[in-house]
Amino acid sequence: MVIEKIKQIKESFNQQIEEISLPKELENLKVGFLGKKGLVSGLMKGLKDLKNHEKAEIGKGINLLKVELQKRIEERLGELKAREYKDQMNREWIDITIDPCETHIGSLNPITITQNRLEDIFESMGFQILDGPHIETEHYNFEALNIAEHHPARDLQDTFYFEDGRLLRTQTSTIQIRGMEKLDPPLKIIGTGKVFRCERSDASHDSCFHQLEGMMVDKDISVANLIHFMNIMLEDIFEEKVEVRLRPGYFPFVEPGFELDMACLLCHGKGCKVCKRVGWIELLGCGMVHPNVLRAGGIDPTIYSGFAFGMGIDRLAMMKYGITDIREFHGGKLHFLRQFSS
Ligand code: DAH
Repeated sequence: MVIEKIKQIKESFNQQIEEISLPKELENLKVGFLGKKGLVSGLMKGLKDLKNHEKAEIGKGINLLKVELQKRIEERLGELKAREYKDQMNREWIDITIDPCETHIGSLNPITITQNRLEDIFESMGFQILDGPHIETEHYNFEALNIAEHHPARDLQDTFYFEDGRLLRTQTSTIQIRGMEKLDPPLKIIGTGKVFRCERSDASHDSCFHQLEGMMVDKDISVANLIHFMNIMLEDIFEEKVEVRLRPGYFPFVEPGFELDMACLLCHGKGCKVCKRVGWIELLGCGMVHPNVLRAGGIDPTIYSGFAFGMGIDRLAMMKYGITDIREFHGGKLHFLRQFSS
């Protein structure tokens, strides 16, 4: 009778354990068979009703069953874990030997694409490409650019300062001074890179953005030269006729200074989120280099004159690609970036 039961339990156990696919289910099975109220314990309890000579033998049989079930449960746990690991490996497998250049899984950020394009355009017109540090001194960021000590642009609101007085450059105009220190006139230089402002971010502002700075110094340079280069640059970038307008603008390092606006290419002058509903985008500041700035760069303003301009690359890229939120550029969304892969 009991022997029959042992056989039944074993068969039922063997059948159930094969159907199990999760470690959690295995735990339930273990409780059902080997737990305090489990089937095997139930058999043990039945021993007391047997005759003495049967007790020893049947007890031994039940113990053997217990050991056998325990062993099988451990084995099955091992199998399930191995399968789980294999499934995970299949799911998360990556080929670290893949050559990223061959598979086009990445793409350049539209900022980089635009920056490279701008550098190509200016290089083809004989401009030299210079670089400058992100961490600057007040001298390069302000003083040498004719920004007096108490000018509002130095306000802590706008500038990230370090404790030692250095700062994160707020403009690439620093490169003008570094360029003039390095090169003798006549010179044509551009510099691109990140700039930083302590600003609240919204669809068209960010605390880190990108600028292109340009400067040309020679004898008899005039506003006409400036307009000429700006037109070439914009038509090359947008590959279409671009409407621009010049307004007087104040920048301490140029005199006269201008703001160059272009008609918003997203809404064609109707007004949208990007152009703040005015139909025009402030694209760049520009003007004739202030004599104090030429002097700070070691150039004699009685002999030489020059123009300079500074432009937000982010804004230009937004116009070019129809991007309506500047924060997309460093949002890290692959589906955004992949649109620009070539
Ligand atoms: N540095 C200015 C800014 O960040 C932009 C600028 C304006 C640069 C006029 C220039 C310039 O070189 O001539 O707002």
